[in-house]
Amino acid sequence: MTTTTLDDVQARESRHVLQTYRRAPVTFVRGEGVHLYDAEGHEYLDLLSGIGVASLGHAHPALSRAIAEQAHTLIHTSNLFYHPLQGHLAERLANLSGLPRAFFCNSGTEAVEACLKFARRYWYTRGEPRQEFIAIEGSFHGRTFGSLSVTSDAHYRAPFEPLLPSVKFVPVNEPAALRAAVSRATAAIIAEPVQGEGGIRPLTPAFAEAIRDACAKSGALFIADEVQSGLGRTGYPFYFAALGLKPHLVSIGKALGGGVPVGAALVSQEVADTISFGDHGTTYGGNLLACRAALCVLDHLVGGGLLGHIARVGQHVEQRLKRLAAKHPMIKEVRGKGLMWGLELTCDAAPVVTAALERGVVVNRTAERVIRLLPPLVITDAEIDEGLGRLDAALGAVGAQG
Ligand SMILES: Cc1ncc(COP(=O)(O)O)c(C=O)c1O
Repeated sequence: MTTTTLDDVQARESRHVLQTYRRAPVTFVRGEGVHLYDAEGHEYLDLLSGIGVASLGHAHPALSRAIAEQAHTLIHTSNLFYHPLQGHLAERLANLSGLPRAFFCNSGTEAVEACLKFARRYWYTRGEPRQEFIAIEGSFHGRTFGSLSVTSDAHYRAPFEPLLPSVKFVPVNEPAALRAAVSRATAAIIAEPVQGEGGIRPLTPAFAEAIRDACAKSGALFIADEVQSGLGRTGYPFYFAALGLKPHLVSIGKALGGGVPVGAALVSQEVADTISFGDHGTTYGGNLLACRAALCVLDHLVGGGLLGHIARVGQHVEQRLKRLAAKHPMIKEVRGKGLMWGLELTCDAAPVVTAALERGVVVNRTAERVIRLLPPLVITDAEIDEGLGRLDAALGAVGAQG
């Protein structure tokens, strides 16, 4: 029998689950829309959506139905055979991104790994095996060896070195540094159009222009990591388009499956032409269940008017956050777009995150001092007001403690 009291859950996990996560002391057992419920029946407003994953909220009727129907029909057959859904999903993503081909995988880090491998393969096929990647300080691309190699934070990297040797980091939003670093040895530049884990930091138009120029001059490919910022999160299908960038490769994940693990590397025709059978693969990638969930999410994002909704609610969030910043001196800066926001504090954000959870609102801390908000994309103005009201109380309580 499954026990759900917090003490039981903690005791069992502490014996048998590898202790890589410092979890908050709450056991969620149910969700509905933007709300989560713990084992004791307390209600929480979810302004994090499982780190940007539960894009349609929790227990969304259409998504639940699609997953259940698919589970009753056929879940998985492997990539040794065709199935009817993968091509449809690739076609929908091509229409949304302008990149005509997709490779499906199961997570963000795998999507980034695929992009890095395809960039190397591009140069290898062209008989000019460029190896170097230019990455950005403050970036986060995942925890597998390739993705970790282009992730800048020493805290994530140090225990696992040596990583890929041919990676150079440049400071974020410093166009001159980027221009100076890129050369004819550069295979690809990789950047998040809005840095997520690095503290919700959009690239500036001047930095985007430097990426564009450097690629044009050197021939280097551009990989946009849209795992966190993509698929509507910022109010745009992809934030690279808002910056006027045309990536050769795009990594996506998180929001795509609404909670079912699925990621993808989206690839330009020029890069696709250099890839051969057997160059890359995965057992699960793009199976029927994952594709069915992703198609349902895209139905809502594109056909269901969700993009317009995000842009509109995003403006409301921005106004509300600016009001919070005017009220609480501990908020140093408000950054973000659409439904992807960071509140940079003058102090460690952890006590505020804890106080928020105690008051029934889920947010998290990133880059030490930043409170991150990634609510479900379906959230309404009234739900934002409710959640930010609780966050306001949490900021007040922590502020009062000095
Ligand atoms: C921009 C970006 N890339 C890649 C990843 C890695 O994704 P995953 O945790 O699904 O492997 C993340 C995760 O936070 C991310 O934000």
